[in-house]
Amino acid sequence: MKLLLVFLASLFVLGINGQGDDSRWKEYKRLNGKNYNEKLDGGKQENLRKAIFFQRDANIRKHNSGNHSFQIGHNKFSDLTGKELAVFLGTTSPPSPKLHKSMTVLPKRQTRLPTTLNYRNSFCLPPIKAQGSCGSCWAFTAITPLEFDRCRKKRSFSVLSEQQLVDCDTNSTNYGCNGGWYVTAWSHLTTVNGSASEFLYPYKGSKGKCKYCPECKSMVGARVSSYGYIQSKNATAMQLALQEYGPLATAITVVGSFYYYTVGVYDDEACDNLPVNHGVVVVGYGRYNDIIDYWVVRNTWGENWGDQGYINIQRGVNKCSIETYPAFVVSY
Ligand SMILES: *[C@@H]1O[C@H](CO)[C@@H](O)[C@H](O)[C@H]1NC(C)=O
Ligand SMILES: *[C@@H]1O[C@H](CO)[C@@H](O)[C@H](O)[C@H]1NC(C)=O
Ligand SMILES: *[C@@H]1O[C@H](CO)[C@@H](O)[C@H](O)[C@H]1NC(C)=O
Ligand SMILES: *[C@@H]1O[C@H](CO)[C@@H](O)[C@H](O)[C@H]1NC(C)=O
Repeated sequence: MKLLLVFLASLFVLGINGQGDDSRWKEYKRLNGKNYNEKLDGGKQENLRKAIFFQRDANIRKHNSGNHSFQIGHNKFSDLTGKELAVFLGTTSPPSPKLHKSMTVLPKRQTRLPTTLNYRNSFCLPPIKAQGSCGSCWAFTAITPLEFDRCRKKRSFSVLSEQQLVDCDTNSTNYGCNGGWYVTAWSHLTTVNGSASEFLYPYKGSKGKCKYCPECKSMVGARVSSYGYIQSKNATAMQLALQEYGPLATAITVVGSFYYYTVGVYDDEACDNLPVNHGVVVVGYGRYNDIIDYWVVRNTWGENWGDQGYINIQRGVNKCSIETYPAFVVSY
């Protein structure tokens, strides 16, 4: 009943404020802190952004009026171009498929699986982070599981530095704000024998000179003991690995609707069977309404994105390739 009322209420609003109406665009700009100075360019930006906004608005309304297991809505991404949106990703393809295979493990423990598991509110996960307009998701994807495992072992929390990876991990397949791969990031942290603390090496969101040195012991907040891939396309193995290792790094394919996710279980068919382009962290799993299984996925687009920074993605069908490259890391 509540849902129906909301639906009727939104129809009413749409009836009054049809497409093209300035008031919703103005409200959007106000809510999202957007400000395009028309005096600077004769309104070029304003008109471009407004046109994109109403195009997305039409897509959002169309989607939400259909029978879908997830809903989408406006956010800071609503008036960005496709090129601008792509900057918020940053995972390249896995550097070496051969390496991927040779490193793959099955979880050691074969205990009975609980029906749900969720680290989302764990003391050992820091608040949601924001990568900004820098394709550094691979660094965040590498750091979060390491922070978790270190915290679980030491029983105290230490926020670690993504900027160290952005600045210093230039030896392999990782390219600062231009993409990278979380498993090679762990390889780098192993080589240099340390992951710096965030407060000593804070995030800037652009590539700079490396400030970490092998002698920089006082900077170190954690060290990598081991890491590897979980067997590919095996959701059960991932569930067991979540229990055994904590949150898992993985890669997914992000397509348009993903940017505007608000609630429900994400199951867009558009993201299937395309190359992965974004790194995220799986922090749990569950089942919605006794019908649809999902992963609880942590993103790095700030707390005001998605469901307070998180998204539920369909589980067990390799949705958006989320089950193709899951990986774990263990700290000392
Ligand atoms: C909506 O989709 C679900 C799952 O696909 C289906 O079971 C249900 O019958 C659909 N409802 C309507 C009204 O089409
Ligand atoms: C850089 O790459 C070389 C060759 O792959 C490797 O031997 C070396 O340990 C790497 N150095 C760092 C700092 O990752
Ligand atoms: C890595 O750092 C730890 C702690 O400072 C030290 O005990 C260890 O010997 C180092 N390992 C290598 C290979 O340098
Ligand atoms: C998937 O993983 C589970 C748990 O580790 C294992 O028992 C099972 O054999 C795996 N399935 C395949 C097809 O390898």
